[in-house]
Amino acid sequence: MGRNAKIELHLHLEGAAPPAFIRGLAQEKHVDIGGIFDERGAYRYKDFWDFLKVYEAATSVLTTPEDYARLVTAVLEESAASGVIYSETFLSPDFCGGRDVGAWRDYLAAMQEAAAQAELRDGIVLRGIITCIRHFGPEKARETALCAAETAGDWIVGFGIAGDETSGQPKDFRWSFDCAREAGLRLTAHAGEWGGPQSVRDALNDLGVERIGHGVRAIEDLALVDELAERGVVLEVCPGSNVALGLYPNFRAHPIGQLYDRGVKVTVSTDDPPFFHTTMAREFEMLHRAFDWDEGVFAQLNRTALDAAFCDADTKSRISKVLEA
Ligand code: ADE
Ligand code: ZN
Repeated sequence: MGRNAKIELHLHLEGAAPPAFIRGLAQEKHVDIGGIFDERGAYRYKDFWDFLKVYEAATSVLTTPEDYARLVTAVLEESAASGVIYSETFLSPDFCGGRDVGAWRDYLAAMQEAAAQAELRDGIVLRGIITCIRHFGPEKARETALCAAETAGDWIVGFGIAGDETSGQPKDFRWSFDCAREAGLRLTAHAGEWGGPQSVRDALNDLGVERIGHGVRAIEDLALVDELAERGVVLEVCPGSNVALGLYPNFRAHPIGQLYDRGVKVTVSTDDPPFFHTTMAREFEMLHRAFDWDEGVFAQLNRTALDAAFCDADTKSRISKVLEA
């Protein structure tokens, strides 16, 4: 399973930064971000809300387009080592130039160049989904959506929302999602991770998204589960993230098995892999152990993910050939 081809749809770029990479950058820049690492050098946090603070502290050392280019290189190396052949990553103009469109373009160009180099080297294909950050509020989200609309195309393919799901309501962000949709971007939203089933309904109804980031707490409302299955809504499930953050005690207790059995289109991703001590290879291995899922199931999950990918049809058929090879 480890090296088999995989498709990943839910990966936060900054959240994928290896701790040694962030420490190295902090040293180069002589900035002190002490306290965010444990004695073994891993990220240290107490709970989800503390995780968001540590995430933002680590991100504070990424201050130039060059830093982000190096980050893309480091992250794609890790992904390729797990067998990932196509990845969609969440990008935040909040952290890349403070939502200024001109600055954002510079960050984006640097990241795209690094991704093109990685594709030449390892064959891995990357596309970007711009995310606003819920706890930064709807006003900043509008500026983020404008950055997204300005740079929408065949590389920036989607728009979404991450951050603290307990802050505000999906409908507060409707303008931003409408703006992104009008620019031709495909839509996803984090919901049903820290919010219950209603948060999934709200994301679908108020934002018109076609994919849900996490969405796993839909399992608490079986009518919603049936609706997700009927409508073909795709869940970007990140089991290792949910276990690491204490949503479920272990993989066996994770609802991905039930969601799959009930016909929901589930996919598998890592979210913020070094924070959760995971990789795509480990996610697949743990699912195999927990649910006895075999190559046939994993092939189906990858196929579902590629179908739900936001890239253009030509890219999809190119990836499809690699997946089937
Ligand atoms: N940002 C990074 N990881 C996240 C997660 N799991 N949920 C919400 N926002 C995030
Ligand atoms: Zn996420």
